[in-house]
Amino acid sequence: MQKPVTRLYPVPGGQHPLEGLYLQHQLHRQPAAPFVYSNFITSLDGRISLGNNDNTTHTVPPATVNPRDWRLYQELAGQSDLLITSGRYFRQSLIGEAQDQLPVGSQDEFTDIREWRVAQGLSAQPDIAILSGSLDIPIAALEPYRHRRILVITGEASDQSRVDALQLAGIEVIRAGSGTWVDGRLMIAQLATLGYRSIYAIAGPAVFYTLLEANVINRLYLTIAQQLLGGEVFDTLTRGPLLTPARGMELVSLYHDPYAPAGAGQLLGIFEPRN
Ligand SMILES: NC(=O)c1ccc[n+]([C@@H]2O[C@H](COP(=O)([O-])OP(=O)(O)OC[C@H]3O[C@@H](n4cnc5c(N)ncnc54)[C@H](OP(=O)(O)O)[C@@H]3O)[C@@H](O)[C@H]2O)c1
Repeated sequence: MQKPVTRLYPVPGGQHPLEGLYLQHQLHRQPAAPFVYSNFITSLDGRISLGNNDNTTHTVPPATVNPRDWRLYQELAGQSDLLITSGRYFRQSLIGEAQDQLPVGSQDEFTDIREWRVAQGLSAQPDIAILSGSLDIPIAALEPYRHRRILVITGEASDQSRVDALQLAGIEVIRAGSGTWVDGRLMIAQLATLGYRSIYAIAGPAVFYTLLEANVINRLYLTIAQQLLGGEVFDTLTRGPLLTPARGMELVSLYHDPYAPAGAGQLLGIFEPRN
């Protein structure tokens, strides 16, 4: 973690410590509140996840996973007051397939991030918003997070009996959208009224699409692992009907990290929508 990264853009470049690279971004103090951001690690051929053996579930490609990218992911979570995740995460978590516990990690190596957020006036851990149309959310998988506020967000037409079961278990449910699916714009407007200022989307392609389609994304952090993976069943950053017009993204900064993944290296890019 001590080895530096090299800035490629904006010029002039120079070497910078990896630790703290994203923690200085003050995402919880941006004028455009709530500030909505997301991050992904992708391979050069665009894979953010691969199908497991029987392809019923997908997980992040093991080849791309690395502790240096993971550190930056934790730094981004450190600045959030709300995480957006998906019903899928909790279903996979129940069968032992989730990548890790939701951030900020409880491991010693992230103590500085946990202390930093409290010193900044943020809560000890970010709250959790779970997007789900099916409301197939195993309540047992929520137990480790009971000390945080948990919001399930769904559409007006989602199954009322499932809403009742969640509420009976003490989980708050918000409806935002006319079908079973959540409308990103209505959701962010409701989250703003609840006082959230920095919202970090850590789910996958459908949630990211929901935010893109609604034009509510303020920033994308994208790690590009310099690897080609192939594979036949995979996810890319986003999935949904064609975005028209295409969402143009401006490059804010780009760093090169030659130290991970082993034998490859990675690019650390930051992009913002071009208005
Ligand atoms: N490499 C990376 O950086 C990275 C980052 C994130 C995720 N991933 C991987 O990508 C794969 C897919 O992740 P994911 O399943 O969390 O991603 P996702 O495609 O964003 O989310 C899937 C689930 O989220 C709910 N959802 C999404 N948009 C919704 C909307 N507008 N309204 C209501 N519900 C909505 C639905 O839940 P219900 O089915 O409950 O209705 C849907 O099945 C996983 O393998 C994950 O590990 C990789």
